[in-house]
Amino acid sequence: MKIYSAPIQGFTDCAWRNMHSAIFANGIDRYYAPFLRIERGAFRNKDLRDIDPKNNIGYYLVPQIIACPVEQFHALIEKVASLGYREIDINMGCPFPPIVKRHYGAGVLSSPDQVAAIMNVAKNFSDIRFSVKMRLGVEKRDEWCALMHSIESINPIHITVHPRTAIQQYSGEIDMEQFELLYSKAQFPLVYNGDIRSDHDIESISATYPQLQAIMIGRGLLANPALGMHMPDAKQKIIQLHDKLFEHYSKHLSGDAHLLAKMKSLWEYFLTETGDRKARKKILKSSTIEKYSTAVDSFWLTI
Ligand SMILES: Cc1cc2nc3c(=O)[nH]c(=O)nc-3n(C[C@H](O)[C@H](O)[C@H](O)COP(=O)(O)O)c2cc1C
Repeated sequence: MKIYSAPIQGFTDCAWRNMHSAIFANGIDRYYAPFLRIERGAFRNKDLRDIDPKNNIGYYLVPQIIACPVEQFHALIEKVASLGYREIDINMGCPFPPIVKRHYGAGVLSSPDQVAAIMNVAKNFSDIRFSVKMRLGVEKRDEWCALMHSIESINPIHITVHPRTAIQQYSGEIDMEQFELLYSKAQFPLVYNGDIRSDHDIESISATYPQLQAIMIGRGLLANPALGMHMPDAKQKIIQLHDKLFEHYSKHLSGDAHLLAKMKSLWEYFLTETGDRKARKKILKSSTIEKYSTAVDSFWLTI
């Protein structure tokens, strides 16, 4: 089964993607970038740098744009196309309440008319292929049913489904009943996304849904960057990934405080399911770079 790396804003930036793809060569079939959006009428340079092809060499990157009002949506496609991309992922899954309330991201799932309007904009770009990343609905688990016709009309490369509603955000039961319904009805390739934590999870989803195009993994891959890759030297590679990220951020962030904050934020998901809890706590509590490095060295002995 193909494995896609899910976009996670603030974590799977181009530094992480570049290093992950170099160290775990061929482990991931595609990397998806966190969504591009327009903020106060403008693109953020940081977001544009993140998807600039010059900064994403050696792996297959798909940029993502957020579903939003049609004028903005048009501008987002034009911008991404101007960078040379011919494949774009449409985010109809972001459940962050201020985004949903404004009918962006997953907020469009309860408005079939808005989804149809967005798809009509996409259809104007005949040289670009789109995929869609979505949830089941905003509040109701069957809202996806009313959207399939317009999504199909763009002949999507695939649809990635995270089988939760927006109000569930990232926790609560995954709704495999609705996923199965969608799987049985879909006229186009599907990608499964949600709560994949182990090689066993990958094998079980692949065996149950053999027609899937791929499995997309987010937090599970941040927790175990070697997930699904069956590598004998995974531990060394994971340490190497950490050290390369440390080196990169020490060059690009100004001052120890920023570096420490960035590295500690990595550990929000990194290796959460292995190693000694006390050793991990020391990392999260470290107040200087020296203490951080000592705590990390001790943690390596426990994995
Ligand atoms: C902090 C955070 C940021 C995220 N940013 C994005 C994003 O920019 N675009 C997107 O499509 N999904 C985003 N997601 C959702 C993930 O791509 C993924 O769908 C979700 O984490 C569920 O998959 P998982 O259980 O494998 O992590 C984000 C999730 C988290 C926790």
